[in-house]
Amino acid sequence: MPEKKSNTPNRRQFLTGAAGGALLASAVNPAAVLAAAKENQAPNVADWSRYLGDGVVENPYGVPSEYEAHVVRRTVEWLTATRESSICFTPLQDLHGFITPNGLCFERHHGGVAHVNPDDFQLMVHGMVDKPLIFSLEDLKRFPAENKFHFLECAANSGMEWHGAQLNSVQYTNGMIHCVQYTGVSLRTLLNECGVSSKGKWLHVEGGDSAGMNRSLPMDKALDDCMVAYAMNGEMLRPENGYPLRLVVPGWEGNLWIKWLRRIEVGDQPWHAREETAKYTDLMPTGKARRFTWVMEPKSIITSPSPEKPVLQKGVQNITGLAWSGQGKVKRVDISVDGGKNWRPAKLHGPIMEKCMTRFSYEWDWNGNPALLESRAIDDTGYVQPTIKQLREIRGAESIYHNNSIQTWHVNEKGVVDNVQTR
Ligand code: CO
Repeated sequence: MPEKKSNTPNRRQFLTGAAGGALLASAVNPAAVLAAAKENQAPNVADWSRYLGDGVVENPYGVPSEYEAHVVRRTVEWLTATRESSICFTPLQDLHGFITPNGLCFERHHGGVAHVNPDDFQLMVHGMVDKPLIFSLEDLKRFPAENKFHFLECAANSGMEWHGAQLNSVQYTNGMIHCVQYTGVSLRTLLNECGVSSKGKWLHVEGGDSAGMNRSLPMDKALDDCMVAYAMNGEMLRPENGYPLRLVVPGWEGNLWIKWLRRIEVGDQPWHAREETAKYTDLMPTGKARRFTWVMEPKSIITSPSPEKPVLQKGVQNITGLAWSGQGKVKRVDISVDGGKNWRPAKLHGPIMEKCMTRFSYEWDWNGNPALLESRAIDDTGYVQPTIKQLREIRGAESIYHNNSIQTWHVNEKGVVDNVQTR
């Protein structure tokens, strides 16, 4: 486990505003407050109201306001040896609703981003099929399209927290996840086009990146709800998300969602029967490893308050966050402000969809005393999100994968929020 170093997010940077008290009482972004000049505030006429603004297509492809420049993906330099085989994190603390904007979706690459010319792109489907086929992107777009909202979570999300509270940040503890709308073709449709042999029980799916990232996918899942997607949130995939084609494996861990998808081979057994034991498996206290652990179990996270979003004043607060389940729909989210002693249901903001993020909120009247904020997700199978202690009792703490435990945020009397583990 890497040592915690100073180039992890600096809590004081997040919190320089909190001690400022009154000035920041109504502020969301301290930088914006500092930049604001009083002469622009009501009842004065603001500077930006006095002159003509930019004309159309000032930005042919629009970008966020300059005052939102702090809302970015971030990486932890010490986590991996190179950026080409690394991970970055979605800024959950600054998101609204349940959709992640394309430019903020976390990335995980094994050999860097491939830049694929769509005119050269082909997807080959072969192996135990009646009719091996090669599809161009235009071929794929001629099939009936599906549009589905799904979260994509890395199996290692919260993986650094198995041994104890380590990173003081919602972005770094939980940001290996995003949720977008995918457009593409159901994998069932493509496989039917090729005619899968009755012996075909597994797919070998392979990417076109320099790592040749590849995985074994069971046929049942492929025929159930998988897609090959060429678009996300209404536009073509971004290069870092697999342009022009990626696999969508709803509810299952992100490493299966092969990007720059170039080949699907149908076979009668998994391709990774041996080597898979060395990667994306979960080492147990017995020394044995769980493997082929694909489903991302129910989880939730309070995104505000959080270490990045301190409580700025006493009184009514909006506790808000995100919940998801790889098994189905989020049925309920409970909130505790006393470290799990008492629970109250949060409000769920629709639409609530299968294997998709759900936004929740809860009104909390903070009296200024220290508090322990927690959320727990319950899905439509009845599964209740566990505590870290419950997970450790079953699985130990040697794996970095599948930590879906309840996150506890400690709020001190100044409103400063810290990552803690209490139970
Ligand atoms: Co797994």
